[in-house]
Amino acid sequence: MTQTSVEQISADLLDQGYYLDRDCTTLSRHVFQQLESFSPEAQDISALMNRIGLAGKLIARRLSRSGLVDDALGFTGTVNVQGEAVKKMDLYSNAVFISVFKQSGLVCRLASEEMEKPYYIPENCPIGRYTLLYDPLDGSSNLDINSNVGSIFAIRQQEGIDEDGAALDLLQDGHKQLAAGYILYGPSTMLVYSIGKGVHSFTLDPTIGEFILADEHIKTPVHGPVYSVNEGNFWQWEESIRDYTRYVHRHEGYTARYSGALVGDIHRILYQGGVFLYPGTVKNPEGKLRLLYESAPMAFLIEQAGGRATTGIQEIMDVIPEKIHQRTPLVIGSKEDVALVESFIRDRERREQD
Ligand code: AHG
Ligand code: MN
Ligand code: MN
Repeated sequence: MTQTSVEQISADLLDQGYYLDRDCTTLSRHVFQQLESFSPEAQDISALMNRIGLAGKLIARRLSRSGLVDDALGFTGTVNVQGEAVKKMDLYSNAVFISVFKQSGLVCRLASEEMEKPYYIPENCPIGRYTLLYDPLDGSSNLDINSNVGSIFAIRQQEGIDEDGAALDLLQDGHKQLAAGYILYGPSTMLVYSIGKGVHSFTLDPTIGEFILADEHIKTPVHGPVYSVNEGNFWQWEESIRDYTRYVHRHEGYTARYSGALVGDIHRILYQGGVFLYPGTVKNPEGKLRLLYESAPMAFLIEQAGGRATTGIQEIMDVIPEKIHQRTPLVIGSKEDVALVESFIRDRERREQD
């Protein structure tokens, strides 16, 4: 009797309708495919992305049950280094990222919105050559209304240990990012990342606990109808941003969308085009968003998708921070829409110089 070959069994199963409903490419497999290698660097990046995915799964799990778990929601009663009220989920998410990287041998240092100084994992430092920068929970004002939130991350090569917490090697431009992305906790949990080879999205299949490839090489349209900005700040904006807002109010083809969570707003723009703005105000010319773990990772992604990100006068990727928690104005999205905002900023500058 002849033995049935594996190929024959597979073909028979396919004939009978036992096929996968899609090509189940997981996150770690995707990194190897992107790098076309199993080199030590590729192993590192794949393992790093896997751990970030694990953090995303743990945070998504808690979020999905947060209304049922005692003490999951609400404020802690403390303020963070930015002077912002801290929520329990902010601290939980911050701790999740630390715990998934402990004993990983991958990351020596983590720097986040919720920690004044970077957190060192000494046992990793002899071999862990990377730093993770992250916003553990973005859009946390949405938590208590069960609306979308996210996590933002960037990976940089570690170029020195700075025991006093200054982490001077982090004070470099966005081109130093090796990888960046976000996790969006919405109706489904999605992970979007880039290692400098395009932008790719994954959807968490909770039944198997894996992020499965959703879209590869996502391209942001060169123009989109959405403008995404908190217009409640109109009274305190520079005149140039008011000029831009008046323009979109008076022209056909624009629509406003603003969720209060950068991750959700950028996700919309990544897929459908448009522009997100968090400009400086007269009182706070640097705006609200933080360069190293909000604006720069998003700039890396959107540029990889063919869009642009600027402060209004300088490309976000070129900004060299002076301190870890530095804020920056942000105009990000479709090329043409970012250019339109810039044109109003330049016009005002010209008029003020005349
Ligand atoms: P975080 O929750 O990490 O502090 O970030 C909130 C950010 C960002 O997600 C959002 O775009 C923006 O703050 C919203 O700010 P306003 O409420 O001032 O519009
Ligand atoms: Mn944030
Ligand atoms: Mn946050």
